[in-house]
Amino acid sequence: ANFVRRAACNFLNIGSRNFSVSAPRHAKVSVLGAAGGIGQPLSLLLKQSTLISELALYDVANTVGVAADLSHIESAAQVKGYVGDSQLEECLQGSKIVIIPAGVPRKPGMTRDDLFNINAGIAMSLSEAASKVCPDAMLCIISNPVNSTVPIASEVYKKNGVFDPRKLFGVTTLDVVRANTFISELKGTPVTQTQCPVIGGHAGVTILPLLSQVEPSCDFTDQERESLTVRIQNAGTEVVEAKAGGGSATLSMAYAGARFAFALLQAMNGAKNVVECSFVESDVTELQFFSTPLLLGPNGIEANLGMGTLIDFEQEALEKMKPELSGSIAKGIKFANK
Ligand code: NAD
Ligand code: LMR
Repeated sequence: ANFVRRAACNFLNIGSRNFSVSAPRHAKVSVLGAAGGIGQPLSLLLKQSTLISELALYDVANTVGVAADLSHIESAAQVKGYVGDSQLEECLQGSKIVIIPAGVPRKPGMTRDDLFNINAGIAMSLSEAASKVCPDAMLCIISNPVNSTVPIASEVYKKNGVFDPRKLFGVTTLDVVRANTFISELKGTPVTQTQCPVIGGHAGVTILPLLSQVEPSCDFTDQERESLTVRIQNAGTEVVEAKAGGGSATLSMAYAGARFAFALLQAMNGAKNVVECSFVESDVTELQFFSTPLLLGPNGIEANLGMGTLIDFEQEALEKMKPELSGSIAKGIKFANK
């Protein structure tokens, strides 16, 4: 878990003008859904990375203006906007990382699964394009329901004969970011040093923070553990309700998405001990996809670090999530093969 903190601390370094590694490989990164609530602030954060040479912004509308705006920022990444199907391939060409926040967000009263009917098709068509144009790129899916969109993308890559399980990620970093923040608020630990692995998936009870493994280690009463776990599981809904019809988390998600992308970029450039949690193809449990801490390297996942030893509360929560997570995974796989 020390590794995870290191990745988080490097978030600022990699965005700074002073960051340097020996012979860094500057990468093209594309953002699909770049004009949206997440896409715009995420692109702003990515524009600051010295490890990105090209930032390719794709959406069904409005990316030309977003790209023009960002292109005036005094950092190295060249920014270009791409609009509509006919420009998707050019956008993806040569990308080393593809980040997908395309799709509709929740409104109050909805579950993430309620987004499936619209977002599954979007995830399918965008991953189809990426699998054809830049099959070796790291594919990072933000679009909900992550528990189903990631299996959809994996099926698309498998059908096209290019699936590399080391390179497909469902972005669950926001759950870790929230857990760290809420734990620090409750326990008074320094927020930048608080580190909690979050395992499982990215919806309700499938989100499982491992409070027994928090660093620096904290004691929780049973009631604190229960209520903190529920708060982390419902944090997305907390934002959806506060925005009252205006969408879901965008700014904290942009931060989390950038943190994950920067961790990948560092690892791709040879940095050691870069660890992030992500929802990936996994053999840690009987579920085909599962989030755990992952050691990242030049080719994506270098090792799955597993979930460590769970206390009874966490073990029960793990068993409780399995039917829902398994159903969401199966739903995605079925959709992709229909
Ligand atoms: P938004 O509506 O503000 O933006 C979505 C963007 O996607 C829009 O600009 C839209 O034009 C674009 N889009 C739609 N179809 C597209 C397509 N086929 N190709 C390219 N772009 C397309 O929504 P948002 O708030 O940015 O949220 C986006 C998604 O991210 C939602 O599904 C939301 O649930 C999800 N989300 C995930 C997490 C997470 O932790 N993984 C966190 C927050 C939000
Ligand atoms: C989140 O966790 O904030 C996202 O998954 C968006 C949502 O619908 O809650």
